[in-house]
Amino acid sequence: MAEQIQVTRSLFDEVMVPNYAPAKMIPVKGEGSRVWDQDGREYVDFAGGIAVSSLGHCHPAMVSALTEQAGKLWHLSNVLTNEPALRLASKLVQQTFAEKVFFANSGAEANEAAFKLARRWALEVHGEHKHEIISFSKSFHGRTFFTVTVGGQASYSDGFGPKPGAVLHAEFNNLDSVKAFISERTCAVVLEPIQGEGGIIPATQEFLDGVRALCDQHQALLVMDEVQTGVGRTGSLYAYMNYQVQPDILTTAKSLGGGFPIGAMLTTTEIAKYLKVGTHGTTYGGNPLACAVAEAVIDTINTPEVLQGVLAKEQLFRQRLAAINEQYQVFSEVRGKGMLLGAVLNDKYQGRARDFFLAAADHGLMALVAGVNVVRFAPSLVITEQDIQDGMDRFEKAVAQVVNAA
Ligand SMILES: Cc1ncc(COP(=O)(O)O)c(C=O)c1O
Repeated sequence: MAEQIQVTRSLFDEVMVPNYAPAKMIPVKGEGSRVWDQDGREYVDFAGGIAVSSLGHCHPAMVSALTEQAGKLWHLSNVLTNEPALRLASKLVQQTFAEKVFFANSGAEANEAAFKLARRWALEVHGEHKHEIISFSKSFHGRTFFTVTVGGQASYSDGFGPKPGAVLHAEFNNLDSVKAFISERTCAVVLEPIQGEGGIIPATQEFLDGVRALCDQHQALLVMDEVQTGVGRTGSLYAYMNYQVQPDILTTAKSLGGGFPIGAMLTTTEIAKYLKVGTHGTTYGGNPLACAVAEAVIDTINTPEVLQGVLAKEQLFRQRLAAINEQYQVFSEVRGKGMLLGAVLNDKYQGRARDFFLAAADHGLMALVAGVNVVRFAPSLVITEQDIQDGMDRFEKAVAQVVNAA
């Protein structure tokens, strides 16, 4: 008989590579926006597995899509195609600017594909000189070596030897800084419509309009990383729709699988054609289980009720945060859109987002940080009003704890 392993948090330190520092408790069950740990303690989930659990935990539509597919077919590789992948790709094409889809397994891999495609397109259409990628300080695009180098925090890419070259970092929401870099050598400008990890910083309309115009002027592709903002999180299926600024390539992951790993790169036929047979690939991309779940996620989220509900829930979050702030004066502003919100700490609490996050956990609330000055909320898009109210009651206690300890 297989050995029964006693699972405790200290086992993590014994058997896991130490690149993460998870919380002390170990969750064992989730339902909707509630989670329970090994001791039966219950938490309200405002973290959503970092903007992933778009339908909460164990949503019936996802459970049924997964279990139905699990009894049919699990894996083929891309030597063969499969029905769930083609259904999901068709829906993404129908609902967005895109005409072609490439499936991957994570946000980083979707971005890796996007950056490689932009480079290949530029090489073939314009020549070798056109290879520079402009991205932005504080941006985050994943942890593969190319994507982390394109990301705007050098501390994440330093210390691994020579980096992929020809990557320039401009300042987000500063069009002049893009103008200073963009030239005939630029193959792509890469941005998040709302910078997530960087601190929930929405692009201004003027900035996105300006970047689109600069890309057109210099024949560069506009790549939007919607890994964190996509699949209804901002009240539209994709955040570019809020701005009415169309990208040439879009990446999506996180909420797309609602907890099952999947990523995708979307683009036009004209650009897609440069990823010819053999240029790029991944064994698991378009896996039937992942695609069956993602199809259920898209079908459930892409309805007027759910998308409008996201904006109504945002209002409730904002009201509760404003009331907490009136009493305790901890935030300078609440940024973001829909179910991707950041409460920005004021001067008095600079650098202390983690204290609020830890206090929230003490009171039974799972929240997130985005940098050291922003408490981030990225819950399920279908979180109930009761769960929001209960979570905010707990957050209020957490804020009181931090303020009173100061
Ligand atoms: C905007 C953005 N892009 C890419 C990624 C990387 O996604 P993954 O962790 O699935 O590789 C993230 C993850 O936080 C993200 O927020």
